Amino acid sequence: MKQKFNISIIKGDGIGVEIINEAIKVLQKVGSIYDVEFDFSQYLMGGVAYDTTGDPLPQETIDGVLQSDACLFGAIGGQKWDDLPRELRPESGLLRFRKALEVFANLRPAVVYDELIDASSLKPQVIKGVDIMVVRELIGGIYFGEPKGKTATKGWNTMVYTKTEIERISHVAFKLAQKRDKKLCSVDKANVLDVSQLWRDTVTEVSKQYSDVELSHMYVDNCAMQLVANPRQFDVILTGNIFGDILSDEASMLCGSIGLLPSASTGEKTAVYEPIHGSAPDIAGLGVANPIATIASASMMLRYSLGLPKLADSIDEAIKQTLKDGNRTKDIGAFDAKYILTTTQMGDTIVSNIR
Ligand code: IPM
Ligand code: MG
Repeated sequence: MKQKFNISIIKGDGIGVEIINEAIKVLQKVGSIYDVEFDFSQYLMGGVAYDTTGDPLPQETIDGVLQSDACLFGAIGGQKWDDLPRELRPESGLLRFRKALEVFANLRPAVVYDELIDASSLKPQVIKGVDIMVVRELIGGIYFGEPKGKTATKGWNTMVYTKTEIERISHVAFKLAQKRDKKLCSVDKANVLDVSQLWRDTVTEVSKQYSDVELSHMYVDNCAMQLVANPRQFDVILTGNIFGDILSDEASMLCGSIGLLPSASTGEKTAVYEPIHGSAPDIAGLGVANPIATIASASMMLRYSLGLPKLADSIDEAIKQTLKDGNRTKDIGAFDAKYILTTTQMGDTIVSNIR
């Protein structure tokens, strides 16, 4: 019998709309080849949701995503909404969204495509073969800690983690490491922060259940340096919310463009797949956005949420083939492009390379 899946789609703002459209085309193609049907339902979130409903995260969106098999997400935000009160801003909607869905584990792979080795600002011999998985805790830490607030002369946030929160994200990271190179580096600031000392103690305790994984600890400032000095030393990086936010942007640059990298946010209830880049309002509507990160996110969705690894492989291969043939979007086109494609052309080329 034909397999059928319900996918919730959030296009969001800026280039979100363009890149999601390309990912949908790719899913439809791979579905038609492997006889899998995807039903897409669209929901509003971000600035467009605020403009339409007065709320950057309507309840209908949360309910719709929870009922679907998985969510494919574009990007949200833009200058237009920057002056709204904080709770009405698209970013607040995104944080509420993550919390409501309880997607506590954010997986952000940084893989250097051989075909694009010259697109990075780092030397090829430093980045060749880089394959890192950043596991970022997503619904705790300083992003959500209380107390927080601001007066005219003082502002404050609180970095809090409970042992339970650290344990559950640690298990996710150790299990991933077991399927990879069996190396896990936990990143904290335990030389200064008490919350980091608890993080370090807890990760060490959890590691006893994963004796096949080699655990190391690193301070976040050192990790930021090591990522550009010798990135190949890393396999899985496990870290908290704000450190993971910063380090995953840094890791993405090893790969040449933030337009390439997918991510997954997972929990017990559902999972959200999205490019790690933002809504890039400066290039929205120009047809120059790179849809690869979103297409690769759709592939991650097939692999991790829908149990369709063959379809995921087929998308990953099509992306590689497309790059191998010299196809580039503007962001990765400076070095060796044979063809500079628009967003739609890149999507179409990847679709045509799916076998
Ligand atoms: C990310 C983004 C978000 C974050 C912003 C848009 C709230 O930078 O997903 O990395 O800080 O988590
Ligand atoms: Mg970020």
